[in-house]
Amino acid sequence: MEPYARHVLVCTGGFCSTERRGRALYSQLASLLQREGMLFGPARVKRSETPCLGVCAGGPVIAVYPEGVWYAPVTPDLLERIVVEHLKGGRVVESAVFHRLAPPPP
Ligand code: FES
Repeated sequence: MEPYARHVLVCTGGFCSTERRGRALYSQLASLLQREGMLFGPARVKRSETPCLGVCAGGPVIAVYPEGVWYAPVTPDLLERIVVEHLKGGRVVESAVFHRLAPPPP
């Protein structure tokens, strides 16, 4: 299997976003990754939908790995910034981060 550079988890559940706006974001993410040429090659990104990330408020919630950066509330415009600036450009969209994984113990 060709390796992935990043993995994006999109919550499509109905608790963090009662209108389940994560569903539309999950579809939009596919289009953006295709547009930016990130479905194949060294910058390849895996996207997955999940019914819950355990936050359940203020969503939709998106988590990006391996950085362990969590974004919310994600709008279509913010998703485009995350793809272009973070996934493609390597610069986290700091203003939209609400949680980060703790660094691994030494
Ligand atoms: S339903 Fe989205 S985080 Fe729980």
